[in-house]
Amino acid sequence: MHKYIVWNRMAIISIASTKGGVGKTSLAFSLAKDLGYRYATNDMSVALNKYNNARYYPKKIPLYPDTVYDFGGFDADHADEILRASDIILLPTTNDLNSIMKSLIFIKKYSEKTILVFANMIDNPNDAIMIKAKIHEHFPNLAFTYLRRTKLLKNALESGLSATQFFESSKQNQHLYRQAYSEYNKILKLFTTEGQYFQAPKA
Ligand SMILES: Nc1ncnc2c1ncn2[C@@H]1O[C@H](COP(=O)(O)OP(=O)(O)OP(=O)(O)O)[C@@H](O)[C@H]1O
Ligand SMILES: [Mg+2]
Repeated sequence: MHKYIVWNRMAIISIASTKGGVGKTSLAFSLAKDLGYRYATNDMSVALNKYNNARYYPKKIPLYPDTVYDFGGFDADHADEILRASDIILLPTTNDLNSIMKSLIFIKKYSEKTILVFANMIDNPNDAIMIKAKIHEHFPNLAFTYLRRTKLLKNALESGLSATQFFESSKQNQHLYRQAYSEYNKILKLFTTEGQYFQAPKA
């Protein structure tokens, strides 16, 4: 089981992957908005027009607390300093060998960091189990969660709302996105539940 460390200050949260299109921006925007954190990115992204606390840094990204970093179009040198200083790195991983392999290489590089592998766009529970097994084969202690294939984050972003705001905005959304929201909320709760946090994995 994972041990927990006390969570007593505003966090630096990075969402990164060396693979494109795995869901970094969608998750980063929503988490930032739900937490009232700054959203910072080195990538032109639609999220920039949807949140007044969103900042675009095409060159060097400054290090701030209470920030969710979205490292799109991954450039390791550019992001490295922030990644090393992050309290947690969320690593979206999709169900294909290329994505899993890139995640394994990334984890090895940042093995001293607290990393949450976030299996995204999961079509059936077995896919999540398979990704988890492949990751744990190499890094048995790594924290893992998943989000099903859903339009929750996309529709929220398009409306300029966080996933929570979008979910709560109508009875219909609460009905349509009940499962997806509960999966998303598990991630959100890492940062909102007093004193609960993943301990850094040992590679
Ligand atoms: N859980 C999910 N289920 C289905 N679609 C998703 C999910 N998460 C994200 N998507 C969709 O996948 C696409 C890529 O997502 P997103 O732009 O967030 O990825 P990204 O990693 O930031 O991509 P890039 O590398 O281009 O910056 C978007 O159309 C988004 O709506
Ligand atoms: Mg992106």
